Amino acid sequence: MKAVVFHGIGDVRLDEVAQPNIEKPTDAIVRITAAAICGTDLHFVRGTLGPMKPGTILGHEGIGIVEEVGSAVRNFAPGDRVVIGSTIGCGNCSYCRAGYYANCDNANPNGPENTAFFGGPLESGPFDGLQAEYARIPFANVNMYPLPDDIDDEQAILLSDIFPTSYMAAELAEICPGNSVAVFGCGPVGQFAIASAKLMRAGRIFAIDSIESRLEMAREQGAEIINFNNEDPIETIKGFTNKIGVDRAIDAVGVDANKPDEGPGAKSVKEMAQDFKEEKKEVAPKTNEKGDNWHPGNAPSQVLNWATEALCKAGTLSIIGVYSAASKRFPIGEAMGKNLTVKMGNCHHRKYIPLLVNLVRSGVVDPAEILTQVGPLTSAIEAYKNFDRRMPGWVKVKLEPEALPEVERAA
Ligand SMILES: NC(=O)c1ccc[n+]([C@@H]2O[C@H](COP(=O)([O-])OP(=O)(O)OC[C@H]3O[C@@H](n4cnc5c(N)ncnc54)[C@H](O)[C@@H]3O)[C@@H](O)[C@H]2O)c1
Ligand SMILES: [Zn+2]
Ligand SMILES: [Zn+2]
Repeated sequence: MKAVVFHGIGDVRLDEVAQPNIEKPTDAIVRITAAAICGTDLHFVRGTLGPMKPGTILGHEGIGIVEEVGSAVRNFAPGDRVVIGSTIGCGNCSYCRAGYYANCDNANPNGPENTAFFGGPLESGPFDGLQAEYARIPFANVNMYPLPDDIDDEQAILLSDIFPTSYMAAELAEICPGNSVAVFGCGPVGQFAIASAKLMRAGRIFAIDSIESRLEMAREQGAEIINFNNEDPIETIKGFTNKIGVDRAIDAVGVDANKPDEGPGAKSVKEMAQDFKEEKKEVAPKTNEKGDNWHPGNAPSQVLNWATEALCKAGTLSIIGVYSAASKRFPIGEAMGKNLTVKMGNCHHRKYIPLLVNLVRSGVVDPAEILTQVGPLTSAIEAYKNFDRRMPGWVKVKLEPEALPEVERAA
């Protein structure tokens, strides 16, 4: 079968690999009908998250049709259409039972400390991922969720990772009706963080990025947009909030954050240039930059600093953008001085999927609105490159293992 395989930093390929088999009674085999590329996949290829085991199939977003189930999978049968949650829980340990699936004690063969998920680093299992024609789903009774027919594939693929992640980000941010919220990053996670903040009845939502097409998408959702290359985001937020700052901030960027290239924002962060340089070396000691691809962010803790600054006293910071153990720089003193609450973590996908399936089904949210590209799995490497270089108009890519003609949708 065809699959997207990690060979090394800056080196992903579409390979012909062996099809997976049932290994344990709790496994299922799913024929993937749609996969997608996440910002997390980019961290691996840029070298800011890892180490990855070469040969790992990438991808932790997928939907498909059940092909085969192990003898202990009693709630699904071949032919069922399912969404697969990105993180893998056993459903049975005290953590899973409390809804903390990302902290499962049993799913990770590498030990209970790290989150088990599809297509992740060595420490996450590793498990082969979902950017493939078929995938093995461990603890399939828990990690698959049935998809009703009235949710189409383009809506369903975003229920696998992005919508649950962003919804959890908004929940961690403790958004109450009326709150003002700053969402840093307008990639897929940021877009759904905005949608989720709206569901929680936020009063005002500021969206910060430097990519115009992504900012425009945020504005269409009703967010007040700030391009950090045109203005200093902190000054702007303070200016718009009577100098108070926002109640809630969400970091939807993570370790590949960039600093402003130009404008007043660039001046404000000038004195941090040396710190950012050193920090980049700490978080990405090895890179493999090729032309305009696979460049780690040049200011890994930029968003942590900005979000802390943008918040009002006693505000809440939700960190959903990913950082590795190599990230050591957080403005702890400023956060302490303001009595901030800081929450973070890997998404407990399975906890949110049932609720979000219902929200999509009832028409409250249409996740397909942020899907901008649909293409065959065979064009995955080109799609990785375009998503990595943040091509204007590219926000979210759906990959279809069956080679169907490429359709470009309006951004
Ligand atoms: N915690 C979880 O369980 C979980 C799950 C899924 C994704 N994630 C993480 O969420 C993050 C976002 O994912 P995505 O798919 O939207 O990625 P993405 O790369 O498409 O989006 C990141 C966005 O951040 C913007 N950005 C860069 N520097 C910035 C800055 N200083 N200020 C504001 N914006 C800035 C970029 O221009 C880009 O639009 C990633 O770190 C990803 O790994 C976490
Ligand atoms: Zn992801
Ligand atoms: Zn568990």
